[in-house]
Amino acid sequence: MDVQPKSMHGIWSSRWTFILAATGSAVGLGNLWKFPYVAGSFGGGAFVLIYLVCILLIGVPVMMAEVLLGRAARKSPINAMHHAVVASGSRSGWRLIGWVGIFSALLILSFYAVIAGWAMDYFTLTAKGALYKLSGDDAVLVFSNLVGDPLRLVLWQSAFLALCLFVVAAGVQRGLGRAITILMPILFLLLIVMMLLAVLKGDFYSAWMFLFAFDFESITWRAVLEAMGLAFFTLSIGMGAIMAYGAYMPAEDSIGRTVLTVAILDSVVAVIAGLMIFSIVFATPGIEPSAGPGLMFISLPVAFGNMAGGQLLSFLFFFLVVIAAWSSAISLLEPAVAWLIEDKKISRPKASIFLSFLVWILGLGTVLSFNIAKDIKVVGFTFFDALDFLTANIMLPLSGFAIAVFAGFIMRRDLVRAQMIDLKTKYLWLWLWLLRYVAPVAVLIIFLMGIYDKFSSV
Ligand code: TRP
Repeated sequence: MDVQPKSMHGIWSSRWTFILAATGSAVGLGNLWKFPYVAGSFGGGAFVLIYLVCILLIGVPVMMAEVLLGRAARKSPINAMHHAVVASGSRSGWRLIGWVGIFSALLILSFYAVIAGWAMDYFTLTAKGALYKLSGDDAVLVFSNLVGDPLRLVLWQSAFLALCLFVVAAGVQRGLGRAITILMPILFLLLIVMMLLAVLKGDFYSAWMFLFAFDFESITWRAVLEAMGLAFFTLSIGMGAIMAYGAYMPAEDSIGRTVLTVAILDSVVAVIAGLMIFSIVFATPGIEPSAGPGLMFISLPVAFGNMAGGQLLSFLFFFLVVIAAWSSAISLLEPAVAWLIEDKKISRPKASIFLSFLVWILGLGTVLSFNIAKDIKVVGFTFFDALDFLTANIMLPLSGFAIAVFAGFIMRRDLVRAQMIDLKTKYLWLWLWLLRYVAPVAVLIIFLMGIYDKFSSV
């Protein structure tokens, strides 16, 4: 028994398609939008270091476990967990990992589509030349006009979800695989152009100092929890997305090497995005690095609007953000779609339409939390803040913890080994050690201390 099952959804056409798809999933709003503003509000320096350490010591081992679980079953996360549970003779409660994953992926997608919608709106604004010679105050106004207009937000949110639907409905090879091989090269090219621009036109030195001058005084448990949550978010782990993608990974590929490549690419992109955005922020008077979620949408347009050739660059930049968000969002939709196809025998297009609609409705909560309902707060959170905090800082770490414990202790050892045969014994031990002891213990401590810190201060 235990021959490698076949995927009913298809397989990535090569190792590189998997790397590109997983990198496409990882590199998204988390890197370009969230990382810079969160690092900014926690003071840069030490936060960035903790974030990178979390990626390496917690993120990479957990991501390997996730890919392994997906590939061992070649099914959607819910059925992949079922497969692993049955094959290992363990308690059926572990299957919750799959359910929680799919559910939280849809929650994330609901607000992700709204923020991606902002980028689409800005993309058309720059195309129309509306951001030309913008002052700091104008920029704040442009942004508040956008988020203050629910209809405009819904329009873009719908457009973005339609883009995702379109790709996911077309299937693993013809949809996801093809989209990724077109989108990722564009993304890397744009990123390099943007990086050069930041070095040439911005205050690169201050940005560097801000991100890499380690000031440990400013670090609280709350900040560490944020850094860890962001590490999970940006790697797309703890949510079934990578498990679903792992299910389509060719059997002979090395999980360890592939995951390491993805994690490195992802961190490099976050750091580049941070350097780029802060170079521009520090070169523009009147904008604080701690500006919050609007950072990218306020500081960058000002800088672009006042620079020679800035219109073209800002057009390219928002194009980059939309592409990055698009290649991530499809990985949030795919796990649930794959599950509906497997268990409910629904066709792929129907499943994609149904789930996008569900996500669209949920997203209305986020849309309204920026305008009509912005003063409705529970323990200091608007609906959007609450979703963001709940998913990134609670659900992702807890499922990451469960995945680490399951793959580290519970799953049958020979099944784990079978997916890791390429790994040299010493690396296998290193990975198992990180997965069993370092990741779960660190996640638990950071989680408990962070939550305590957060709620003891409200
Ligand atoms: N990693 C993406 C980003 O950085 C977001 C994302 C895509 C994600 N799929 C995910 C986050 C699955 C958590 C889980 O923008």
